[in-house]
Amino acid sequence: MKNFPFFIILRFRKKAIIVGTIRPGNPDWEVKETLAELARLTDTAGGEICGSIVQEIKRIDSAFFIGKGKAYYLKELAQIKDVDTIIFDDDLSPAQVHNLEQVIDRKVIDRSCLILDIFAKNARTKEAKTQVELAQLEYILPRLTGHWTHLSRQVGGIGLKGPGETQLETDRRLIRKRIAKLKSELIKIDKQRKTQRKERKNVFKAILVGYTNAGKSTILNDLTKADVVVEDRLFATLDSTVRRIPYNNHQAILLADTVGFIRKLPHHLIASFRSTLAEIKDANLLLHVVDLSHPSYEKQMNSVNEVLNELNVLTKPVITLFNKIDLIEDEFLISRLKQEFPEAIFISALKKIGLGKLIEKMNDYAFGEFYESEVMIPNRNTKLISLIYDTVEVLDREFRGDLVKLKLKVNNALSKKISKILEQGNQS
Ligand code: GTP
Repeated sequence: MKNFPFFIILRFRKKAIIVGTIRPGNPDWEVKETLAELARLTDTAGGEICGSIVQEIKRIDSAFFIGKGKAYYLKELAQIKDVDTIIFDDDLSPAQVHNLEQVIDRKVIDRSCLILDIFAKNARTKEAKTQVELAQLEYILPRLTGHWTHLSRQVGGIGLKGPGETQLETDRRLIRKRIAKLKSELIKIDKQRKTQRKERKNVFKAILVGYTNAGKSTILNDLTKADVVVEDRLFATLDSTVRRIPYNNHQAILLADTVGFIRKLPHHLIASFRSTLAEIKDANLLLHVVDLSHPSYEKQMNSVNEVLNELNVLTKPVITLFNKIDLIEDEFLISRLKQEFPEAIFISALKKIGLGKLIEKMNDYAFGEFYESEVMIPNRNTKLISLIYDTVEVLDREFRGDLVKLKLKVNNALSKKISKILEQGNQS
């Protein structure tokens, strides 16, 4: 099938100015940090930053986001710097993009659009390409004005205008049709994935999750001798790669990589990547990789946890992997984190430090000898009961007055996880 031309429409141009805003309750260090991240994203997309501005605003201007006066200032700056794209760190409404483009006379995009562009560049498999194209079209549809209205000319002959139809209507009709087609393709892909997952049902599955550039692919390559792309770039991997780590002649752990997370990840992108992210739901163990050398590693951890929470998978056992310790000179930081996260493992995937310990712990979870254990929980605590069902295999259930007795199949690692769940359940 002919490639749909949206990748061309969104293709990112070279020279850019990036724009951040400081708003009440939004400290300027945080703005600087996310702007630095936007600069990296711009670089990853192939853009060259020719200027950046940070504007303090009390409230968002519904028409121009940063206000009309500042929009004219940006127009001048764009002329002086000879750039053709303005990139905002915040999400803009379709009307704001339209108004800003009218004034500045340059292409205006926001963070979501930039991330979509990178995803489009990096998508390799049919699944990733379909997911990204769907996310792009859903992004474009409400924004279909001036700049975007040249679609049917580009597709050359497909869906020619019906009688009395404006160009805009034709384009919208084409997009809706394409969205419906992509959705049905994704349903098919999803079914195939489900079948693959069923075939792997009896194998223990661990999955690497983490902020983009944390080192997930490097770990996958180290542990499985795979050949996944490792680059000092954001979102180098979009496709979930699954590899085997043999335990003995008969048993193995399956290890999978996932798309990296990022702050302000466009919501429709998460929705489009649902089938890739379903791999996380199916995993027995999550390996949360954290780039400890990053100044905002805590924020990055929180962003990842937010997405995991959204996916409802935080009840699964998680091993935190503090990666890139070869770059850490502050001994105090590591000893503090060891106290705060006693179960975490400190590694350097690049220098191959701590990986033996990681394998040992994964084996504990996967092959640690299973035994039966019992817990008693008040009947009314349905949330806690369903958490336990999500985490381990429940062999038997018996009601005793206000209590329910659950017989669980656990090993040492899972038993610890259950104790933690009970502890938290009793506190809340
Ligand atoms: P995405 O695909 O963007 O999600 O990235 P990722 O999490 O898969 O990271 P990847 O493995 O591609 O590594 C990103 C960069 O970090 C590469 O340049 C790696 O060489 C580097 N890196 C990974 N682990 C380490 C480490 O332990 N120490 C150091 N110094 N660099 C590392």
